[in-house]
Amino acid sequence: MDAQKPKNLQELIQMLHKIFKGDMINVEEVQELMESYKSNTQDWKKYAIFDQHRYTRNLVDEGNGKFNLIVLCWGEGHGSSIHDHSDSHCFMKILQGELKETLFDCPKGEDGEMNERSHRILENNSVAYINDSIGLHRIENVSHTEGSVSLHLYSPPFQTCHVFDQRTSHKNTAQMTFWSKYGERTPSQTAVSKENN
Ligand SMILES: [Fe+2]
Repeated sequence: MDAQKPKNLQELIQMLHKIFKGDMINVEEVQELMESYKSNTQDWKKYAIFDQHRYTRNLVDEGNGKFNLIVLCWGEGHGSSIHDHSDSHCFMKILQGELKETLFDCPKGEDGEMNERSHRILENNSVAYINDSIGLHRIENVSHTEGSVSLHLYSPPFQTCHVFDQRTSHKNTAQMTFWSKYGERTPSQTAVSKENN
């Protein structure tokens, strides 16, 4: 029997809560479920708060402590650093527009340029998956005319990740911050934060 398809984002969240109740995660099951939700702007527009200067991370749901569900808004030309995912699962679904994902090998040391393995364009409604054993990636909205929106699920949730300098492979720790939570703009922080996904 085919699994039930979520009619809207709220149903998708309920179904994710059920799946993540257990201790084992079936990557394919989560990926298929997220793919089966057909993006509808009405469902997520309250979380889609763009910034002129860089991409934003907007918390949607904390998954009973098992996962974080986050809407990322990518203005024209916005992109992330090359980053890892702190030993978590990372699922990324495109809700609007397209995103370019570039994959890198995890560097052995800090001597020289990082090895770019491949890149691809992720189209609307598709779901990508990555974890640290697969490698590192950079995400970019390469469009000059359209903003992109993506829905990310991280399990378990994490507060920091590593970012990498492409030319030197130098590694830094970055704090995860939220531009908004549950549709409400987060009070702005005085510290300069490096946001990553
Ligand atoms: Fe990522």
